[in-house]
Amino acid sequence: MTATKVRILGIGMGPSQVTAEVAEALRTCDYVIAAAKSDDDPLLSVRRAVAEDHGVPVLAVPDPERDRSDSGDYVTAVRDWHEARVDAYEKVLRARGGTAAFLVWGDPSLYDSTIRVVEQLADRMPLEYDVLPGISAPQLLAARHRMVLHPVGVPVHITTARRLHDDIAAGQRNVCVMLGGSPDLSGLGDWSIWWGANLGDASEELVAGRVADVAEEIDRAKSRAKQKVGWAMDVYLLRAP
Ligand SMILES: C[S@@+](CC[C@H](N)C(=O)[O-])C[C@H]1O[C@@H](n2cnc3c(N)ncnc32)[C@H](O)[C@@H]1O
Repeated sequence: MTATKVRILGIGMGPSQVTAEVAEALRTCDYVIAAAKSDDDPLLSVRRAVAEDHGVPVLAVPDPERDRSDSGDYVTAVRDWHEARVDAYEKVLRARGGTAAFLVWGDPSLYDSTIRVVEQLADRMPLEYDVLPGISAPQLLAARHRMVLHPVGVPVHITTARRLHDDIAAGQRNVCVMLGGSPDLSGLGDWSIWWGANLGDASEELVAGRVADVAEEIDRAKSRAKQKVGWAMDVYLLRAP
């Protein structure tokens, strides 16, 4: 019997960014496993569109509820949630076998738990897996603004909006921020920002300039994106003066 195989495929910021390598890999898969957060989950629709483009059926697996009741025990809540996901995927893989694909938004190496989930699955059952890259949000941001993410000889630090101010206090001067919410740019008026929302979608918005000059424009652009499609995801680069 051939071992069950999982292919973790980065799909970039949507169907038009699926690389030739990922498309070819997808066509070797028997089915796509996709977490379904709700019936109108926008990311599920994108995964369906990508899978359909390549003639691969989608198995939607209801995403387990995350316990948000005890914010004091965030780590345990996330760990339990990941375990419940692993349980659900294990059931599917054991029942179906063959070659399954996970379609990861952007690139699997950035703020995505699929690789960790599949590592856990491989501890529980015989499983081969590989990972193919996709275009990530920071890459697309840089391309849209026609820029390099760092000046010569300067590192770029990638972090979350939640950690931004701590990381700046710790000395970071060239920071790419993901997992937004509403950007808190207080105290950064003289910094430069290159901002983008819904990159790769028709609702895409871009703003660049000195933070104090463009902060309101960013708020307006983000609301515009949200109004158009019902969601807004943003990423931005902040650079000290
Ligand atoms: C869970 S992370 C997934 C990132 C993804 N793995 C990648 O490679 O970019 C989601 C975050 O990525 C960024 N992001 C994802 N899609 C985006 C888009 N189309 N436009 C702007 N930012 C995006 C946002 O910061 C969002 O909060």
